[in-house]
Formats: sequence, C-alpha cells, structure tokens
Amino acid sequence: MLKIGIIGAGRIGRVHCESITRYVKNAVVKAIADPFITEETAKWAKDKGISEIYDDYKKILADKEIDAVLICSSTDTHSAISLDAIAAGKHVFCEKPIDHDVKKICKVLDALKESKVKYQVGFNRRFDHNFRAAQEAVAQGKIGDLNLVKICSRDPGAPPVEYIKVSGGIFLDMTIHDFDMVRYLSGSEVTEVFAYGQVLVDKAIGDAGDIDTAVITMKLANGALAVIDNCRRASYGYDQRAEVFGSLGQVAISNDTVSNAVISDANGVHAEKPLNFFLERYMGAYVAEVNEFIDSIVNDTPVPVDAVSGLEAVLIGLAAKKSLRLNAPVKLDDIRKEYSL
Ligand SMILES: NC(=O)c1ccc[n+]([C@@H]2O[C@H](COP(=O)([O-])OP(=O)(O)OC[C@H]3O[C@@H](n4cnc5c(N)ncnc54)[C@H](O)[C@@H]3O)[C@@H](O)[C@H]2O)c1
Repeated sequence: MLKIGIIGAGRIGRVHCESITRYVKNAVVKAIADPFITEETAKWAKDKGISEIYDDYKKILADKEIDAVLICSSTDTHSAISLDAIAAGKHVFCEKPIDHDVKKICKVLDALKESKVKYQVGFNRRFDHNFRAAQEAVAQGKIGDLNLVKICSRDPGAPPVEYIKVSGGIFLDMTIHDFDMVRYLSGSEVTEVFAYGQVLVDKAIGDAGDIDTAVITMKLANGALAVIDNCRRASYGYDQRAEVFGSLGQVAISNDTVSNAVISDANGVHAEKPLNFFLERYMGAYVAEVNEFIDSIVNDTPVPVDAVSGLEAVLIGLAAKKSLRLNAPVKLDDIRKEYSL
C-alpha cells in the first residue's frame, strides 16, 4: 500500500484526498500539510483517517514511509516544492501549472533527468471520459488526416479579481487546459498562435490587466488548424465541448448533464443545463488521473501526463500572451529561442 502526502489543503487538495480515500485501492493518504490549514479542514482530515497534519510540507518530505506527494498548493509554490520533493526521492503529482516561469519549469525538468521519481502534471481533462473517447477516435485513425480542432471552454462565472491578479492571466490559468487539450486531441504540436482578447464580462478584470473573453487560433505541426474560444462567464453553466474534423469525418463531444431528460411542452423543448463547474464535470477525471499516477508508480510505467507536457502548455500560453500584446501571430520557436530551448 503506497503512502501519500498531500501538500496544500485547499479546494483541489481536498478533491484529490477524497479521491484517494474513497476510490484508490492501493494507496492511503498518511499526511497533509498546509501553513494556513483551518480548524475545519484539520477536523475533516482527521475524519478521513489522515494521521499527520502539518503546517510545513518539509515534514512530509522527511517522512521515509511516504512514497509520493500531491502538490496542490498555490501555483507560486509548485516549482520550489517540486524540487524539494524530487530531491527527497518522492514521486510527484503536481497540479497545473508547474510554474508560470519557464526557467523554473526547466529547473524541475533538469532535476527529473537526474532522478528516477515519477512526475505527473494535473491536466485532468485528459482523463475525462468524453475527451478520452475523442482522443482515442483520432489516435485510431477514425477521423483520418486532421483539418481542424475546435475547443469551446467557458466558465460559469469569473473568479474574484484578487484571484485574477495572481493567476498569471487567462491563458496561463484557464486556457492552459485547452492548450493541453489541443496537443492531446491532435497528437501534434502547436507551431504558431494568434490570440484575440476582450474585456466583456467585468471591467475590474481589465483593470487588473487581464481579459475575460478570447479566441485563439493555432497552426499545428501536422498541418491542421486549431481554434479555442474562452469566456469567464457562461450564463448556462460550465461549457466544455470539442470537435476534431478530418478527411474521414469528425468526432464531437458535448457537455455532461445530471440527466439527459428532455421535456417538450407548449413553450418549447427543455433539457438540463451542463454540470455547473469543474468539480462537478470532472470529478471522475480527478479520480482517474490519481489512479493512473498511482498505477505508474506501482507498475513502474511512464506517467500519462509528463513534465514536458506541463512545459509545452505554458509555452503556448506565453505565445498567446505575446500575440495578444503585439496583435500579431507568434511562432512557438521564437518563444523557445527566448528561453534557449
Ligand atoms: N486541475 C484542475 O482542474 C485544478 C482545479 C483547481 C485548482 N487547480 C490548481 O491547484 C492549485 C491550488 O488551487 P486551489 O483552487 O485548490 O487553491 P486554494 O487556494 O483553494 O488552495 C491552495 C492551498 O495551498 C495552501 N498553501 C499555500 N502555500 C503552501 C505551502 N507552501 N505549503 C502547503 N500549502 C500551501 C493554501 O493555504 C491553500 O489552502 C493551483 O495551482 C491551481 O491552478 C487545478
């Protein structure tokens, strides 16, 4: 039985802890660490059977019984904690993004070259049953040679402006999942990005230096084109759809709903709204990603989402940021050159 330490007891830390406690057969959570842990969270952790509750993650790293850690703390702590965990010989599951700073991500990649630990990045959408079915159809050649990848990704509501200010901007915070999805669905790399952005939801988001509505077009190495549309507010819930179109046909995925009941009456035909947000839509994906991380440790197989994927999505996000600033297309190679990659 693997012993796990969770670093960061906020929203996503608790989700992963619940997943392991309830659904993962060959792992238990032994410890949780958070410098700002609340009494309520500490009680919740005790109730889950977690024996050690710390304010300093280094106590988890010093515990020889702990095999792996899940880094679920605020983004600005991920790369430093990753380096400490790798040095301590712990397998790492790190929430997205590894960092906003490419140089810091590269330090993690360098540390991994010298180490045998597994390192998985939390791109949970790859484990969603719908996205995975679409990816499998593409990988099996059912769609033929690809022409287009289309992703629609809209949140039900904008986060507080205080969050926006430290988020790294919409492309590194929100679209980063969609950039990873373009790579995952197409099986190809992004070579060029053109991003448009507007502030149409909340002026305060613009005052904080960010945008809330975006369209990003991309060229891929396999010749196909991709387009993502984002908005921080969709009045009808969390809108997460995708389509891949090619020479043999297309595969499209839609939103999940609580039920697929459709009521028809004199006023029209009514169906359920999409599941409200990521905790509802992706709960199964969160369980699957942690299960596959544990399996990769137990079976000594490659992790399903590696640190290079973590880096690539950030590079595309930086290209999109630059494109928006310059109002011009940006080649990924130019971003790579900036960091001598
Ligand atoms: N993959 C996804 O779908 C998904 C969803 C939500 C959040 N995230 C990512 O997970 C991370 C956390 O997000 P959240 O929404 O849970 O935030 P949150 O604010 O709810 O939780 C973060 C927690 O980290 C703790 N923390 C800060 N510094 C720490 C340190 N040095 N050691 C241990 N704990 C520390 C904070 O006290 C807080 O409790 C972010 O990087 C975010 O991008 C990913």
